[in-house]
Amino acid sequence: MSVTILAIESSCDDTSAAVVRDGVVLSNCIANQEAHRQYGGVVPEVASRAHQANIIPVVDLALKKADVAREAIGAVAFTRGPGLLGSLLVGTSFAKAFALSLDLPLVEVNHMQAHVLAHFAENPKPPFPFLCLTVSGGHTQIVLVRDFLDMDIIGETLDDAAGEAFDKSGKLLGLGYPAGPLIDRHAQAGSPRFPFPEPSVPDLNFSFSGLKTSILYFLRKELAENPDFIRENLDDLCASIQETIVTVLIKKLRKAARKTGIRHVAIAGGVSANSGLRKALEAMGEKEGWTTYIPAFQYCTDNAGMIGVAAYYKYLKGEFCGQDAMPFAR
Ligand code: KG4
Ligand code: ZN
Repeated sequence: MSVTILAIESSCDDTSAAVVRDGVVLSNCIANQEAHRQYGGVVPEVASRAHQANIIPVVDLALKKADVAREAIGAVAFTRGPGLLGSLLVGTSFAKAFALSLDLPLVEVNHMQAHVLAHFAENPKPPFPFLCLTVSGGHTQIVLVRDFLDMDIIGETLDDAAGEAFDKSGKLLGLGYPAGPLIDRHAQAGSPRFPFPEPSVPDLNFSFSGLKTSILYFLRKELAENPDFIRENLDDLCASIQETIVTVLIKKLRKAARKTGIRHVAIAGGVSANSGLRKALEAMGEKEGWTTYIPAFQYCTDNAGMIGVAAYYKYLKGEFCGQDAMPFAR
């Protein structure tokens, strides 16, 4: 069954549109919102307004890049949640209006499910069942994926997400937002010589809120003796923070793989762009005999390509939604 889907993603601060034909991404355009940098985090009101300004140009660009006319679109997909409600409303309303005007079916997509299914935008595609560590600015989950639309969260964070841990730690170091990629860059030039305690959390769950507190106390003590401590040790501090977060993530993933006996292991979400995590996954994979799956950078952070891929599998099952589908925050 051939179908060309226009997909819209607007859950946080990236406005994205993609054209996906039969599960193959033809275009994947993203408008990043620079406006949040000055505030050190995403300001929901600012995000909604920027989505409103970006959405039509981004959709036009996606259609143009894919060389697809509006009339060739067979379904419209959108992120329904989780995310910021004001942001989601912009993408949802746009998708509904587009579908209504061309009398097209609508497909609603769960953002977290789409991060997992981003793996099907590329080759090699993981076979079922596989485990996926989904690590983003808002979520940290270990997902047992039985089929395209059949997945269970078997572990998750009890407080901060991994991306949040990167961003909040970076803020303490005076780095801009989002700090994750900046920490990654500095870490590559540093060595992890400041050991921060790894939280001990039972089962397959995570906790990252204590890390930021221990970094805060550590910095306070060091800065009292040397006001230039951060500047003089920035690379090593970043390497230490990254190593702590990555170690926690990889150890839990190993626990999940041993517990379930599953040997196909993937990572997804914005933090899966982290060079330390990518290397650590490969190293652990070699040790434990896993086949590992790491997405291309364009499918790590928020993008509509993954929404279109997820929508394709829902389309095949006839899972459509009505014009009354409302966004959800969590
Ligand atoms: O998936 P995503 O784009 O948005 C959410 O759904 O939250 O993830 C954004 C998160 C941010 O916290 C950002 O700092 C983090 O992903 N991130 C990284 C890297 N690139 C993005 N964290 C560590 N290293 C990176 N290279
Ligand atoms: Zn995301």
